[in-house]
Amino acid sequence: MSITHSSQAPDSSTPLSTIDWDHIEFYVGNAKQASQFYQCTFGFEQIAYAGPETGLHDRASYVLEQHDIRFVLTSSLRGDDAIAEHVKQHGDGVRDVAIRVRDARSAWEMAIRGGARSVLEPVERQDENGRVVLATIATYGDTVHTFVERDGYGGAFLPGYVELAKSAPRAAKPHLLAIDHCVGNVGWGEMDAWGSFYEKVFGFSQLVSFDDKDISTEFTALKSKVMSDARHRVKFPINEPAHGKKKSQIEEYLDFYRGAGVQHLAIRTDDIVATIDALRDNGVEFLDTPDAYYEDLQNRVGEIDEDIEVLRNRKILVDRDDLGYMLQIFTKPLQDRPTVFFEIIQRKGSLSFGKGNFKALFVSIEKEQEKRGTL
Ligand code: FE2
Repeated sequence: MSITHSSQAPDSSTPLSTIDWDHIEFYVGNAKQASQFYQCTFGFEQIAYAGPETGLHDRASYVLEQHDIRFVLTSSLRGDDAIAEHVKQHGDGVRDVAIRVRDARSAWEMAIRGGARSVLEPVERQDENGRVVLATIATYGDTVHTFVERDGYGGAFLPGYVELAKSAPRAAKPHLLAIDHCVGNVGWGEMDAWGSFYEKVFGFSQLVSFDDKDISTEFTALKSKVMSDARHRVKFPINEPAHGKKKSQIEEYLDFYRGAGVQHLAIRTDDIVATIDALRDNGVEFLDTPDAYYEDLQNRVGEIDEDIEVLRNRKILVDRDDLGYMLQIFTKPLQDRPTVFFEIIQRKGSLSFGKGNFKALFVSIEKEQEKRGTL
């Protein structure tokens, strides 16, 4: 493993130097039901809607919010458009990892100069709540990044969406605060090229990289590098499969997703124990962690605030780097295809992505693959 902690001071002179997450848009088969799922299990609130009732005749979009996280769930109403094609190819999945910027036009121009393909040229949208500027570029697979400039926009989400009255919470509140990182799976040998893409197009630098010696079990292997903005706000780990004795979990994803795409979203909390209790109560399924993992934990990570028994009962993983430690746990896939899943993460100083846990995690993922007969 090589760690390259960026020593660059945040530079506010380029359009992509002070970015943050804006929202994640999923294209799904049935957005109405998916919205209920994310409200009842992950504790999101539905805050806005766009569809035929608001003058949009080809789709329905539901906007969900929790603290700084916004999801948009979109379904086609027609069956012969790009949304329906995306769902046919990939199943339910992430279409847009939208990024908030100060100046969407400059961000788009910088991206195009860096070699990105434009999907939507900068466009201004306006309603009684103010104005926004949107522009979209393509990234790996059929995934895109929309630049959202929304300074001063006072509406619930974006022009074209109606605000919904807040409903009573549908589920125990898990205290999910913000997106921490968004991981892409790309094809064999493509990781370096996509790493350079984020360097040239976003001005990102490499935070950390792992090779197949770090991340392998007897059966499965992968390579990964993490691209990040200077402030470590927006972090994009990129995985590619590596050779193991059996099919790697990245290959399984690529088969079922039919190409590159978002593998997981890591969501930050400040109380992972209470959050996992709430999510389990709500019916969220997590990957199992073998009991053996906890036997050696104290030696591996040293002193931590949490009681190991409390973590063992909840199957929460721990990893440490030179800056501190972090706690994490992974859900099972969120749809029938074994593709997108969530990670719940609490950072206590650490910038780690859980390298020390990959092996423990993979053993547990392989057990699930075995059940599906794809190992
Ligand atoms: Fe992760």
